[in-house]
Amino acid sequence: MKYFTTVHDVKNVDILVQEALALKQNPYAFSQLGKNKTLGLIFLNPSLRTRLSTQKAAMNLGMNVMVMNIDKEGWALEMEDGAIMNGTSVEHVKDAAAVIGQYCDVVGIRCFPSLRNKQEDYSEKVLLKFMKYCKVPVLSLESATLHPLQSLADLITIKENWKEKRKPKVVLTWAPHIKPLPQAVANSFSEWMCKSDVDFTITHPEGYELCEDYTKGAKIVLNQNEALKDADFVYVKNWSGYSDYGKMLPVVSDWMLTNEMLNATNNAKVMHCLPVRRNVELSDEVLDGKNSLVLQQANNRLFAAQVVLKKMIENKTEQLNTFLKNEEIIHY
Ligand code: CP
Repeated sequence: MKYFTTVHDVKNVDILVQEALALKQNPYAFSQLGKNKTLGLIFLNPSLRTRLSTQKAAMNLGMNVMVMNIDKEGWALEMEDGAIMNGTSVEHVKDAAAVIGQYCDVVGIRCFPSLRNKQEDYSEKVLLKFMKYCKVPVLSLESATLHPLQSLADLITIKENWKEKRKPKVVLTWAPHIKPLPQAVANSFSEWMCKSDVDFTITHPEGYELCEDYTKGAKIVLNQNEALKDADFVYVKNWSGYSDYGKMLPVVSDWMLTNEMLNATNNAKVMHCLPVRRNVELSDEVLDGKNSLVLQQANNRLFAAQVVLKKMIENKTEQLNTFLKNEEIIHY
C-alpha cells in the first residue's frame, strides 16, 4: 500500500479488518518489521488520538517516529504554485515536503479544511501537494474531506460487537455543535459503511446533506426517530453544511441523542470518534452508559494505524527486495 487517504486505497476492506483484529491479539508479532524505518507525523491541526495511536502503532512495529506540529513549530507554508513569496509565508510546501520525505520512509499528514472555499477544500490541495512532493508513502491523519484511520477503527469496532448472521443496521446521525465542523468524519464513515456488509442509514436535518460522492448506497432519512428505529449501531457526529458550505443552518428539533431516543433502537451501541462536547453533541447518560463504544473505538485507532503502517512498510520492503534481486541479476 503506497497511500492511505480513502477506502479506495484498500484492496479488500474485510481482510484489512481481520488483519487488524489479529494484530490486536498479538501487537508485537511484527516488532522487527519497522527496524531502521522512520515515520514522520506532520500536523497542521490539533490532535490527541490520531497523534498518540499512530505513534504507538509505529513503535509496536519497531519504527522510529518523528512528530512535528508544523503549523506552530515550522515555517509558515506557502501552498500556491508560482507564488511570489514576499508576504507572511516563509517556505514553499514543495521544498518542505521534499525535505521531510528525505528523512522518512512513511509520512502521515493532518490537514483540515478551511470551511471557507469548498472547491479548494474538496480538491484536497494540501494533502495532494504533500503526496506529490514528499515522494514516499503517505497516510492521511485526517484531510479536508476524509478521515480513513478513524473509519477503519470504527469498522473494526462494529465487527467486534456484531456476532449475528444478519447485516447490522448502522445509523449515522447528525448532532448539534457550537461551531461549524468539517464533514470529513461523516464523509469517511459513510464511504467505509457503503463498502461494508451493513445496512446503512444517514439522518440529518434538512440542509445538512453530505457530498453525494461519499453517500452512494446509503439510505437518507430526514426524520431522526424513523431512522433510529431498529438500529444496531448509532454513530453520532456533527458536521457543517456542504451545500451552504461550512455554515451552521438553523435546526428546529433537538438532535442530541438521549437514552429515551435510543428506546426505538435494537438496544443500539453508540459510537462517536471523540473529542465530544458532552451534553451538546451527546448526553452524559449515553456517553457513560453501558452501550457506549467510544473508548473501544479510540483503542482500535491503534490497530487501524498499525495494520496500515504494516502494509506500507511491507510494500517498501518488497520493492527493495525486487530492486536487490534485479541488481543481483545484473551482477552475475
Ligand atoms: N478522532 C480523532 O481523530 O481524534 P483526534 O482529533 O484527537 O486525533
